[in-house]
Amino acid sequence: MISQEQIQIEQIIHQLYEKTRFDKVKAFKGVAKSAFRPMQPLDFKDVALSISKEQGEHLKELIIKDGHKNIVEFGTSFGISTLFLAQGALETRGHIITTELIQSKAERAINSFKEAGVNHIIETRIGDAMETLKGHVEPIDLLLLDGWKNLYLPLFSMLEANFHTNTVIYVDNAEMAETNQFLQVVKQNSKYKLSSEGNGRVVLITIKKDNNE
Ligand SMILES: C[S@@+](CC[C@H](N)C(=O)[O-])C[C@H]1O[C@@H](n2cnc3c(N)ncnc32)[C@H](O)[C@@H]1O
Repeated sequence: MISQEQIQIEQIIHQLYEKTRFDKVKAFKGVAKSAFRPMQPLDFKDVALSISKEQGEHLKELIIKDGHKNIVEFGTSFGISTLFLAQGALETRGHIITTELIQSKAERAINSFKEAGVNHIIETRIGDAMETLKGHVEPIDLLLLDGWKNLYLPLFSMLEANFHTNTVIYVDNAEMAETNQFLQVVKQNSKYKLSSEGNGRVVLITIKKDNNE
């Protein structure tokens, strides 16, 4: 039976999706600004750019199935993906560290975490992920990469020492050119196994158990 806690989170996720229904128009304005210069996170300060409900459900199931407890997310935005992670973490008694560059977005996310009753299992760090996750010492069971794509590789390299045999790295926007460049680098390392999901939008990176995989 679904718990009252889970129902409360689902309601907040539903409200957030409703509020961000017309984000495509706002996102288009952000993209237009980048016609003559590289896209910047601030161009999208009012846009959720969130994962889909199907992706969220998949992440939640992944956490529960594999018993992930130590979860790290790059790219909080308004906290939609984090709330799906929290649904999983509630079942595994896990916790989440999520990080967002833009203060107003992080504050909005924290309010939603409070409303959903899960702020106690989420640590929201505000600032550049390369700084906020620097010196991370805990093992990472699940890493969600969903921030600016040029940081996927440096962030992955910085956190690699925290991976273990059951770590899963969930890479969103795998279809984007910059993400692909990152994936090509990871693919060259025989330690890692890559599998494509969700019509190519997602790639899961896992650690090979032996060299025959
Ligand atoms: C695709 S959105 C995240 C969506 C969120 N994961 C969801 O599904 O609800 C990417 C976010 O990464 C943030 N971001 C970009 N560069 C960052 C950095 N250097 N450190 C932390 N966050 C960053 C952006 O501000 C943006 O809100």
